[in-house]
Amino acid sequence: MKRLQTWFPTLLYTARLQKTGGTALNRELVRECHQLRDFDDVGRRWSQKNYPGGYTSYGSLDKLHRFSSTFSDLERGLDRHVRSFGRSLDWDLGGRRLVMTDCWVNIMPFHTAHSLHLHPNSVVSGTYYVSTPRGCAGLKFEDPRLSRLMAAPPRRAGARPANQLYVTYPAKAGDLILFESWLRHEVVANPIRSERISISFNYDWA
Ligand code: NI
Repeated sequence: MKRLQTWFPTLLYTARLQKTGGTALNRELVRECHQLRDFDDVGRRWSQKNYPGGYTSYGSLDKLHRFSSTFSDLERGLDRHVRSFGRSLDWDLGGRRLVMTDCWVNIMPFHTAHSLHLHPNSVVSGTYYVSTPRGCAGLKFEDPRLSRLMAAPPRRAGARPANQLYVTYPAKAGDLILFESWLRHEVVANPIRSERISISFNYDWA
């Protein structure tokens, strides 16, 4: 008797942040993201070196949920989804909670990219999409076993999605995506002339 089972899955969680509405929140977030870029000299300098062409507050203002009521509203909305993700992973938090530790802004104009990376010292990371003009870059994930595949044959064309080595999630305003922080990901160069705006965040258990 033949049996084929799947073990050690990599879970990715996507959802709309809010069941209805959300446009008012995004309008306000766009305004604050632009305000941050205008006023954050340190962040703009940091971005010149580390995020060419774009602006990220990752190197300067990465606790936005503690300083802006709009971002703390976003945090409250995300908390619910992160808890649900933790339940899907069967995590035993031993009385601790999943809490947002970092929250920052990313503005990607034409050609700005974010190369392959992971988020050390966190347990859940993710992105919330604020402004995603048609055709903007998605979020690309890599099979975490890639470095161990060694002599494995390539995948045939048309392989089942779960057997592919990469998966790209389209970016859509109002959507959030959650993943375990060790999972490597990237945003390829934004191929269109309009700005793509997102907010990224980390959660720890504390
Ligand atoms: Ni990231």
